[in-house]
Amino acid sequence: MSISVVILAAGKGSRMKSTTPKVLHEISGKAMLFHAIDAAQKISDDITIVLYHQASRIQESVEKDYKNINFHIQDVEQFPGTGGAMRDITTKYEKTLILNGDMPLITQNSLLALTSGDADINMSVIKLDNPSGYGRVIIKNEKVQEIVEEKDCNKIQKETKTVNAGIYCVDSTLLNRYIPMIDNHNAQKEYYLTDIVKMAVDEDLMVTPIFVEEEEFKGVNSKLDLAKAEEIMQNRIKEELMMAGVIMRLPDTIYIDCRAKFKGECIVENGVTILGESYLENAHIKSHSVIEDAKVINSDVGPMGRLRPLADIRDTHIGNFVEIKKSTLTGVKAGHLAYIGDSTIGEGSNIGAGVITCNYDGKNKYKTVIGKNVFVGSDTQLVAPVTIEDDVIIAAGTTLTKNVKQGSLAISRPPLKIMAEFFYRFFGKSR
Ligand code: UD1
Ligand code: CA
Repeated sequence: MSISVVILAAGKGSRMKSTTPKVLHEISGKAMLFHAIDAAQKISDDITIVLYHQASRIQESVEKDYKNINFHIQDVEQFPGTGGAMRDITTKYEKTLILNGDMPLITQNSLLALTSGDADINMSVIKLDNPSGYGRVIIKNEKVQEIVEEKDCNKIQKETKTVNAGIYCVDSTLLNRYIPMIDNHNAQKEYYLTDIVKMAVDEDLMVTPIFVEEEEFKGVNSKLDLAKAEEIMQNRIKEELMMAGVIMRLPDTIYIDCRAKFKGECIVENGVTILGESYLENAHIKSHSVIEDAKVINSDVGPMGRLRPLADIRDTHIGNFVEIKKSTLTGVKAGHLAYIGDSTIGEGSNIGAGVITCNYDGKNKYKTVIGKNVFVGSDTQLVAPVTIEDDVIIAAGTTLTKNVKQGSLAISRPPLKIMAEFFYRFFGKSR
């Protein structure tokens, strides 16, 4: 589709009360601005982001994840305001869609509605019972006449309940002609992009109001807005997953990152958190487990299991209070209370309660390799680097500091002493 997109993100975002730029605050694991870019990329390959406050920080973080995005630094000193933001921007295609970087909930359907038809300007309009804070949109005979900013409204205009959601699709030639003509003769002494509407109307051009859902077009300005947007996004993510076949128990208590992927029939119980680019296939995640950037295939985890980044679990049972990091487990059982880090564990192996891989010596991390059919007894410490070959028994309580050959038993235990009648002597009591 031949549409250019400009995303406005130069605003200071002071209401966010944060040292992190507003548009980099995350919703469901992804920066707000990235949600906007993703929506834009579905309809355009010519995307420009307008920056000013913390420009380099935002640009760097975008460039880490995206290619072929243009950046434009607004001259805010001379040309403040949304109209100033659009100055000196060159777009490739005949239509330009203008988005805001702080509207992470906009869907592709709404963008398609905004870019359809052959009006000179399509603009997003919301009907609100309480229009305060927004520019009012004066509509006559289904055509937009004018947008008046709240601070410039007279009494009658202030009563208008149709407001400007701030997203427009404009004929690019028209935009290039109008932007330099915008002045700052208004209450805020800013260059208002909204003035282009009046200019078009004065030339008898067509400005069409596109009515949109408030929920999608609400700008996120504060941490309260952020939390509300998060809730909406979470509901969307979970509804989509359930429709695709994921079973969720008490979905309101579940948190799922927008980057997580599911396949087959998965069950996610109450209180579960799934973060990052996790992948779950035929997985059963039991209550209050936390899965982060991990893979779970044909396996069950929890309750209260924790898979950290690069845990890769296949045909495996992970029980309560087991933490796994950067480890590959295939056909393994680890039922209770264990830490497994920087390890690979083969088929048929059993990890007893209280087993710890001692993967860190305070300076470096080391690997533990466990073969097939290895029985690791309870309360064993595996001091890495260490390799255990197939068909091995490690006795309970062992501190393993050497590699173990196939078929062996490894046992390290101080000799057990039992002293008869010691209790009575010690406490000076008799039986
Ligand atoms: C603007 C509209 C208003 C509309 C409202 C919807 C104007 C003049 N008014 O209001 O009619 O109801 O959006 O939310 O456009 N930005 C820049 N550079 C700037 C100023 C803003 O890039 O100099 C960016 C902001 O980062 C933000 C977007 O533009 O993403 C909107 O700015 P904001 O200040 O929130 O909009 P308002 O002026 O309140
Ligand atoms: Ca403003």
